[in-house]
Amino acid sequence: MSPERAGEGGASRLLVRDLAQLATPAGTHAPLRGSALRDVRVLEGAFILCEEGRIVATGEMRDLDLPPGPLAERDGKGLCAIPGLVDCHTHACFAGDRVEEFALRSSGASYEELHAAGGGILSTVAATRAADEDELRSAVERHRAWMARAGTTTFEAKSGYGLDRDTELASLRAIANAGGIPTWLGAHAVPPEFDDADAYLEFALAEVLPEAAEIAEAADVFVERGAFDVRQARRYLEACAGAGLALRLHGDQFTERGAVSLAVEVGARSIDHLEATGEDGVQTLAASDVTAVLLPASALCLGRPMPPARKLIDEGAAVALATDFNPGSAFCESLPLVCSLACTQMTMSPSEALSACTVNAAHVLGRADRIGRLAPGYDADFVLLEAPDWRHLAYHLGGSVVSAVVCKGEVLWPSRAAVR
Ligand code: NIG
Ligand code: FE
Repeated sequence: MSPERAGEGGASRLLVRDLAQLATPAGTHAPLRGSALRDVRVLEGAFILCEEGRIVATGEMRDLDLPPGPLAERDGKGLCAIPGLVDCHTHACFAGDRVEEFALRSSGASYEELHAAGGGILSTVAATRAADEDELRSAVERHRAWMARAGTTTFEAKSGYGLDRDTELASLRAIANAGGIPTWLGAHAVPPEFDDADAYLEFALAEVLPEAAEIAEAADVFVERGAFDVRQARRYLEACAGAGLALRLHGDQFTERGAVSLAVEVGARSIDHLEATGEDGVQTLAASDVTAVLLPASALCLGRPMPPARKLIDEGAAVALATDFNPGSAFCESLPLVCSLACTQMTMSPSEALSACTVNAAHVLGRADRIGRLAPGYDADFVLLEAPDWRHLAYHLGGSVVSAVVCKGEVLWPSRAAVR
């Protein structure tokens, strides 16, 4: 992808003027909890002024005071600006697809049955191992372009479809080189050449972790029957923390197996999924610093109950939203669609949904001081929505609501360079 300068003529200053609305999570701190999650500041008839990839001013047009000098201008009439969306949970590095599995599931086969029969995640492991690093990088770039069209300006992506040394490291490099934030999901599944999870972890921690820790920012583990139990996950996460990685968990997707308590115990940044989380888990998270990352597209695609978003927010937990983009449980790169699901299926408000996939998602990625808000000093990452009211982000279900996407002052989409 080769982004264009937002302004013609290569000016480093960009003004977007006459916006119908500008909407941004208020305040400066993160993560947002409780009523602060729905505190969105809306300006009518607004502008954004950017310089050298950063926002220098936002406000209402009548207050625009423009210092002299070269400037590129964009007309924002009929458009609303929101912060660039932040996808803090994807599995964007994979080869092949699982459309056959999708068809089987559509006629009744369950995700867990397919996994136990060696399909599911392990079928993507086989396809990913057969790809070389250039092919993996192209795949991540293609997926990144899909995300950009949907308004995502920052994305995390996990390895976890290699599960051997070379493919895991190639996946992490492919993610980093394609502009993603890499997470080592070294404990996603037990690959077929190992008899059990302990033997696999022995290998992964000795042979892969030292180099993975040089590339990745975080480590992740899938705590579930048929994957890793709490004892194994603790061993993996403690070793990863020792190597300097931030910690994340996939937990309570199908069954509660102690992942929430473990996340708190090891000081994880997040626990993700939570479709099976009950009252105790909600209370434990509410009293902790662990962010609950909710993935309603995955719950929808697998016919699972939605995670308890309302309870988590009302009890004071930090909640973020993400796509879980992957070839199996959620072949969905659209955070606007995730916001629609949050509002229609989880009784979140549009304001809560916006903050959950901007500020709070940025917090999960350790970047809430730079991205997730439209305010001076933040990166010039924003989405222009083709709508008279910013809440069309969630209201326009599966619609073409994104008109343009700007990342660090450059137009990310629509781009003149076609990406295949
Ligand atoms: O978050 N649950 C584990 N991992 C992914 C799915 C991976 C796949 O199905 O390929 C998830 O849903
Ligand atoms: Fe996931």
